[in-house]
Amino acid sequence: MNMHINEAKRILVTNDRGGYTVPTDRLYPFQWNWDSAFVAMGFALYDTDRAYRELERLVEGQWADGMIPHIVFHQPSDSYFPGPNVWRTRHSIPTSGITQPPVFAIALRKLHEASGDRTRTLPLYEAALKWHRWWYSARDPEGTGLVALLHPWESGSDNSPAWDVALARVPTTTDTPVVRKDTSHVNADMRPRNEDYQRFIHLVDVYAACEWNWAKQWEKAPFKVAEVQTTAILLKAGEDLRALAQEFGLLDDAAEIVAFNEKSRRALLAQWRPAFSRFVSRDLVSGQDIEAPTHAGFLPLLALDLSADLADAVVAEMQRWSDGMKVAFPTTKPYVDSFEAKRYWRGPSWAIINWLLIEGLTRNSRADMAEALRLSTVRAIETEGFAEYFDPITGEGCGGLGFSWTAAAYLSLAA
Ligand code: GLC
Repeated sequence: MNMHINEAKRILVTNDRGGYTVPTDRLYPFQWNWDSAFVAMGFALYDTDRAYRELERLVEGQWADGMIPHIVFHQPSDSYFPGPNVWRTRHSIPTSGITQPPVFAIALRKLHEASGDRTRTLPLYEAALKWHRWWYSARDPEGTGLVALLHPWESGSDNSPAWDVALARVPTTTDTPVVRKDTSHVNADMRPRNEDYQRFIHLVDVYAACEWNWAKQWEKAPFKVAEVQTTAILLKAGEDLRALAQEFGLLDDAAEIVAFNEKSRRALLAQWRPAFSRFVSRDLVSGQDIEAPTHAGFLPLLALDLSADLADAVVAEMQRWSDGMKVAFPTTKPYVDSFEAKRYWRGPSWAIINWLLIEGLTRNSRADMAEALRLSTVRAIETEGFAEYFDPITGEGCGGLGFSWTAAAYLSLAA
């Protein structure tokens, strides 16, 4: 057996904290939402019981309004900032107050297909449906079909150049002292800047003052972006949720989900910009397109069946971004001003983003590019280990090591 597969499984064991998996030791000592969904997809390949546990433990953090938070603080730890005392939320288990990309139902369907265990899938299906309803009410109250983020962390791409303009409007003042812990685990050059952190915490202060009521937050939010990556993930997850509803004979649910999906499909297609050969998000505060060239513009591949013309244009543009890179796919277009090869979401390649892009390319019959990206990801991990992300130019593994979602992605992509 491939020794890297054993190593990937060993990382998931090491990062287990009792039925849930931390992204990596120290740097991220709690349960993170989309990390766990990816981890569950990895487990689904060889241990469906453990995969269910991962999702069940995440749902322990689900709020009464349906939101599944981006972090569930199952046990205290002092190696991470901001902790529960900064979030000031009121769930029975401490959680953050914002969410993360809804990969959950994508994982749930894969898991259900692997296990066929309806009894165990059903409560998780209900949780996912409640969360999708929350997205369409709390994050798209005007019914546009595109869901909005109120904090960059909700994108999962914390310091992406996509947020530069919108975040610059957010004041750097905070009520809460910013005591970063991340830079004592990882080189500061690879992490978001201090000024970004001030703004991230300013937003937390504003929403805590709204007592985490979503309607108040929507009104007060100084950062509001209708985002294409999140909407694409929500739509793909919605397709998977609909398949489960259908299988379970829940026809009213299925009809409700189809209506969500159709709305998002139309809205996403309207975000196509031929001049860039990609899709763009919209800054709801300024009303402007977000033109910063980031990987998010290609994520709609995951959820749309593009016409041959559009798919050709997307693939040609993705090829231009990949040319000369040791490890595709760069999260920012190489060599534009905002591109930084080692700084987190401003250039580096991430295995889980590649995983989503590979699924999207496969869906759109672009098997060659999907295979090239798969090989590039697998080789990067086999050469550098299970790093958080990779410098696309040199291929160097960066950020935290022994990373859970990199291990899960490897299990799926190497298979
Ligand atoms: C960072 C990433 C985010 C991830 C988390 C835990 O905040 O930007 O996407 O979920 O780390 O790995």
